[in-house]
Amino acid sequence: MSKFYITTPIYYVNAKPHLGGAYTTLAADVLARWHRMKGENTFFLTGTDEHGEKIAKVAKEKKITPRQLCDQNAAKYEQVWDTLKISYNKFIRTTDPVHEKMVAKVFQHLIDKKLIYKGIYQGLYCVGCERYYTAKELVDGKCSIHQKKAITLSEECYFFKLSKFQNRLLKLIKNNKWVIEPEERRNEVLGFLRTEKLEDLAFSREKVEWGIAVPGDSSQTIYVWIDALLNYLSGIGWKGQEGKWPLNWPPEIQLIGKDILRFHAIIWPGVLLSLGAPLPKKLYAHGFFTIGGKKMSKSLGNVLDPEELAMTFGADALRWLMLSAFPFGQDGDISQSKFYDKYNTDLSNGLGNLLRRVLTLALKNKKKFLPPKKVDTNFKKQIGLVWQKYERSLNQLKFETAIASINDLVSFCDKYIDSKQPWRLFKKDIAEYQIVLYNLLEGLRHLAWLTQPFMPEKSNQIFQSLGILGQEKKNPLAKGQVWGKTEFKEIILGEILFPKL
Ligand code: MSP
Repeated sequence: MSKFYITTPIYYVNAKPHLGGAYTTLAADVLARWHRMKGENTFFLTGTDEHGEKIAKVAKEKKITPRQLCDQNAAKYEQVWDTLKISYNKFIRTTDPVHEKMVAKVFQHLIDKKLIYKGIYQGLYCVGCERYYTAKELVDGKCSIHQKKAITLSEECYFFKLSKFQNRLLKLIKNNKWVIEPEERRNEVLGFLRTEKLEDLAFSREKVEWGIAVPGDSSQTIYVWIDALLNYLSGIGWKGQEGKWPLNWPPEIQLIGKDILRFHAIIWPGVLLSLGAPLPKKLYAHGFFTIGGKKMSKSLGNVLDPEELAMTFGADALRWLMLSAFPFGQDGDISQSKFYDKYNTDLSNGLGNLLRRVLTLALKNKKKFLPPKKVDTNFKKQIGLVWQKYERSLNQLKFETAIASINDLVSFCDKYIDSKQPWRLFKKDIAEYQIVLYNLLEGLRHLAWLTQPFMPEKSNQIFQSLGILGQEKKNPLAKGQVWGKTEFKEIILGEILFPKL
């Protein structure tokens, strides 16, 4: 059985997840569900990034320990993921002792290989923020929060020889051995590697206490990003034994937002190359949810709450709305009013209304609907085309076009009803009515399969209305995609799929 290992970034545990942050994880969930549906051995990893200065600071403000803050907030993440029906296989926390031990082991290993060395780090430091800034991040040399000039400070720390990997990385990307998508992001990384000299990277900090201690030097903690990136290996059980890669390694895909591209496209493969580990097959960096053109973020205070929105629209509909709002690789503006419009068009008046129409028509006759001898080749062909577009879209991470292909099928079925007028056939040609209704029920069965990764519960509700939930859930996708073999023996009207809002 082929395997599919997918990762999302692990989230900073100093805050509650907002809708923008949930985007990466939701997209990964749809992919994971799609690959499971195809029968692949799928492993989906997510979790929380729990070390670093910010977490210690927030904990101090709240007068609790960093550990307590991490426990509280990690639980919030798990709760939001539950609400959004995120089907992860493992939730990794970087304060897990198994992870911490592995990170320290890797660090030691790289010291032994002379890829990590001790040196002096010099940078622009804001005393108020207690952190270093790059010159570009400062305005007139001042940090935006404290409006005070940053001072030049130096400290001892351990460096990683990232510079050594510049040419190798460049070559790997050029030859598509290190695949970065979409094209725009790949070009961004290539451009950077071609024009800027890769510096060795400060891999430890003297002033950050809440972190994993550098082995043999308790005055230093390991840089949080290195700690965090290694979750992709500890999350699948790697304990740091070189050359012995876990079964799931490497990931088929690593999904991230474009703000953390360089960490994942340059530093991460640099670390993997230094360990001699195979590189992930693909890195995909998606765009941002923006509100009025600005990135949705906690610091800008323009965040939408996924739990509140799930209460309004229902979690399944919210999943659909988030992934259909705009093309995945780009940025896109979202708003509640756009969500309302789309909910009504696609779901309430679209799929939900179609289901109700067909079920009501089918219930006119108490009979079963068995595969007719006469196959409607046009309908069958349409289904084939929809699956083609859908599969191609999901394989290219074009969630919005996969959703469009589902909408296409809904419109096709609506038009089919209008042209065949089954309510008339019921009175004058019951045999033809049976055939038309059979085709529509088959159409709905396909719609239930197609919506499964996006809206798992609504999809089950459709199967249930068709009286086939148990049997279809046991079937592999290949069987589900067949046309005209299913018997519909018990139609249930059930509740309205998407109540009008
Ligand atoms: N902790 C780091 C990741 C370490 S991975 C080894 C981090 N965490 S985060 O909580 O800030 O971001 C998590 C994910 O949410 C990232 O993929 C980020 O791009 C995504 N998003 C945060 N705000 C977003 C939007 N407004 N829109 C879309 N995605 C956004 O970075």
